[in-house]
Amino acid sequence: MFRTNTCGELRLADAGKTVTLAGWVQRVRKMGGMTFVDLRDRYGITQLVFNEEVNDALCARANKLGREDVIQIKGEVNERESKNKNLPTGEIEIIVSELTVLNASATPPFTIEDNTDGGDDIRMKYRYLDLRRACVRKNLELRHQMTMEVRRYLDSKGFLEIETPMLIGSTPEGARDFVVPSRMNPGQFYALPQSPQTLKQLLMVAGMDRYFQIVKCFRDEDLRADRQPEFTQIDCEMSFVEQEDVIALFEGMAKHLFRTIRGIELTEPFPRMPWSEAMRLYGSDKPDTRFGMEFVELMDVLKGTGEFSVFNDASYIGGICAPGCASYTRKQLDQLTDFVKRSQIGAKGLVYARVQEDGSVKSSVDKFYTQEVLLRLKETMKAVPGDLILIMSGEDVMKTRKQLCELRLEMGSRLGLRDKNKFSLLWVVDFPMFEWSEEEGRLMAMHHPFTHPKDEDIPLLDSNPAAVRADAYDMVCNGVEVGGGSIRIHDPELQDKMFKILGFTEERAQEQFGFLMNAFKYGAPPHGGLAYGLDRWVSLFAGLDSIRDCIAFPKNNSGRDVMLDAPSYIDQKQLDELNLALDLKD
Ligand code: AMO
Repeated sequence: MFRTNTCGELRLADAGKTVTLAGWVQRVRKMGGMTFVDLRDRYGITQLVFNEEVNDALCARANKLGREDVIQIKGEVNERESKNKNLPTGEIEIIVSELTVLNASATPPFTIEDNTDGGDDIRMKYRYLDLRRACVRKNLELRHQMTMEVRRYLDSKGFLEIETPMLIGSTPEGARDFVVPSRMNPGQFYALPQSPQTLKQLLMVAGMDRYFQIVKCFRDEDLRADRQPEFTQIDCEMSFVEQEDVIALFEGMAKHLFRTIRGIELTEPFPRMPWSEAMRLYGSDKPDTRFGMEFVELMDVLKGTGEFSVFNDASYIGGICAPGCASYTRKQLDQLTDFVKRSQIGAKGLVYARVQEDGSVKSSVDKFYTQEVLLRLKETMKAVPGDLILIMSGEDVMKTRKQLCELRLEMGSRLGLRDKNKFSLLWVVDFPMFEWSEEEGRLMAMHHPFTHPKDEDIPLLDSNPAAVRADAYDMVCNGVEVGGGSIRIHDPELQDKMFKILGFTEERAQEQFGFLMNAFKYGAPPHGGLAYGLDRWVSLFAGLDSIRDCIAFPKNNSGRDVMLDAPSYIDQKQLDELNLALDLKD
């Protein structure tokens, strides 16, 4: 037997037992005639003791052990004299009688402990060593527990787990596809799924009724802390349902996860917020509702009521009220102005107004406005003495709201209002069906082209498509979109119409989605669904800043796997076989 126990399981009750353990050497400490070795595996750390007086030769060998050597030992479990209360195995040690070095290790490039000396790049290059660190491993353990609970929940609700292919045609989720050349079909390409959207709809036509899959999705888009080019969805679809049925099921899953994983009992229904309200109050379709500081529109108060041309020319003026921040110094205010002027945010400037102890208002635009107007500003903002009012304006309403949203989040962080252990969930509903794309010069589907418009808005499809709302819903937690879905169109005529509005010619719609439209001719049930982002859920539960930390082998911000050094060039021979004529190295 290789080992009788793991490095995490022996306790005081095991004292006196002879055991065999195997694992990695975390640390070797020599203290007088004694040598202590911390032996680590996935389950924990157990202290080994070698005594020079009892076995000189064995102790000499222990002194030569290096960090990360893989060893096997045999010995007796002994009660420790000085107990370590911070370690589950801290009451015992193993008096070693036999030592086998199974595999010596080169000196690792960084220390394999929670507080490591390794920077980001080096840890990613040696990710297999990084994963030995307990703080990283526990994220993967949490991920495992969460997928188990998801399966348990969905199985109990009658869902079937069905795999769909990875080599498919393009699926329109709004990002670019990763493509794979086909050797057997020269000049043709597969696309990796951005999601299994069309396939899960076909499974509904096939009568599967309730489908789920924990599935890799691929999107070639700019990366951020909550985006990876390959990520995992908990993807579901249901037949004979309405929006309320889908929402109830997924709210149930979220509650199940909070209960089983975090021990948090969420009893109340999650709040719902129409998309237009989310944009108006937070400038975002994924508002962080852990704190207030909602936007207040100030067009009536500040446009045309003074000589400030920036406000007088604006199409939107909005403010937030930062409680207790009137004492901000000039330097702090300049920092905030620089923050909103950064190229990622792109605002032209920031106006502030301090509410003084005596109730009067002192602002950066004092010379343009009377105190009376500024007092009206205070009143509209519901500001009290000690508050700081921050105001932004612009010609593009949506753009300015998004900029103010960044400022609000920054203030929330500065004021410590974005506590990782507090969870604020909501459904954002009533999304617009379409959004205008400057790049494409046409209306695009906001969710995807298969989303069902709200029944009451269907008449607007011809007259005012931009005003049509969709049966689409996103779940948001702490300002992160953790899931999104919709009720789908199951009527081929309505789908046809949708493609027309989206600018598809009949030929192109047929070419790209003919398979789906044909399937719909053979009795498609009304259906809808949702996909949760697993990586985002895990990182929220683990309190991580980036989803990278809960993915075993993630890509960096340039989409590279630095450990595998991928992507990489391929041989000319391989290119030729794939009928890819160009030599990419030149
Ligand atoms: P959507 O595009 O909203 O919907 O994706 C569903 C959820 O997947 C997560 N997600 C991501 N996570 C990490 N990295 C990414 N690049 C990334 N992109 C998306 C988000 C998101 O809410 N087919 C539809 C679902 C449906 O309608 O049923 C879809 O893919 O948490």
